[in-house]
Amino acid sequence: MTRIFSGVKPTGHLTLGNHLGAVRQWVETDQHRGDAIFCVVDLHALTVEHDPARVRRLSRQAATLLLAAGLDPERCTLFVQSHVDEHTRLAYILECTATDGEMRRMIQYKEKAARERAVGGGVRLSLLTYPVLMAADILAYGADEVPVGEDQAQHVELTRDLAARFNQRYGHTFTVPRAVLPTVAARVMDLQDPTSKMGKSHAETSGIVYLLDEAEVVRKKIMRAVTDSGSEVVYDREAQPGVANLLEILAACRGDACKPADLAANYSSYGALKKDTADAVVELLRPVRERHAELCADPGHVDEVLRAGAERARGLARPTVDDAYRAIGLLPAV
Ligand code: TYM
Repeated sequence: MTRIFSGVKPTGHLTLGNHLGAVRQWVETDQHRGDAIFCVVDLHALTVEHDPARVRRLSRQAATLLLAAGLDPERCTLFVQSHVDEHTRLAYILECTATDGEMRRMIQYKEKAARERAVGGGVRLSLLTYPVLMAADILAYGADEVPVGEDQAQHVELTRDLAARFNQRYGHTFTVPRAVLPTVAARVMDLQDPTSKMGKSHAETSGIVYLLDEAEVVRKKIMRAVTDSGSEVVYDREAQPGVANLLEILAACRGDACKPADLAANYSSYGALKKDTADAVVELLRPVRERHAELCADPGHVDEVLRAGAERARGLARPTVDDAYRAIGLLPAV
């Protein structure tokens, strides 16, 4: 059975980008076709300036939202990264496989380090080694597939390199995983700045649709989306990034077979496209918000899902991490 692993970082409220780029695939396909493991990767949230109470709150909220979006604990494993020690145990071993040059080449490191420096903070060492912890998340479970948005593809590529290198030097230990990106909306852009990604930790929020936004707020954000200077609706990510973003969002909401370029032919004005996109997103998110409210009323259920998830995850990761310890030359504890 295909082993699938993916995660979400509790650095902000989950967005439409997270949903269309990753979570929806987890819910609609991944948990039905493989042994799917999903993780709220809280350790990763400590790599930038953070408020401890907020990280704790957002971790619980992310887990609750993933269940609200449709992850079914009967069909998949859901847990919190820091509840399973194997991740950090393996990260150290992989640090002994990776080079600092590889880390410094990562696009997200460059962007985030620049952001931290701009606000006068130091760049944490863990921000540099972030992709190694992410590789440990994936390799500990022997994942074959990693369903992610486009921004994570480089990290999964690095994971493949580290796995292959370790296997070659120390003997076959890890499955070499591959990233699986959605066909549309792999990179949902900010509605106010369609040249940059819709990111959950951005300070300016008017171009970001959050999964928990009220319907009227969602509508307003989409109706006010920046469009382009032409007046024709065409799907061209270079020339018309704002319109292309709306077409991608609408196509993703409509489902698999729907292509942004085909949709463009149905519209002669930006207003009509925005209205249909707003309606589609509101309908997509309505059940998630409703189920989230129900789950918030039953925090014991979420706790129990996370407890059982961590227990299963520990059992799966332990043998692989023990193998890696042995292979790299550590004396097994007796
Ligand atoms: P994170 O928390 O930033 O995002 C979670 C998932 O959502 C996708 N995503 C998007 N997709 C399309 N458009 C967007 N605007 C958008 N924003 C986010 C991301 O690609 C991701 O799939 N490093 C990861 C978390 C992680 C992880 C892992 C993922 C840690 N360990 C192991 C997979 C496997 C991250 O920061 O995702």
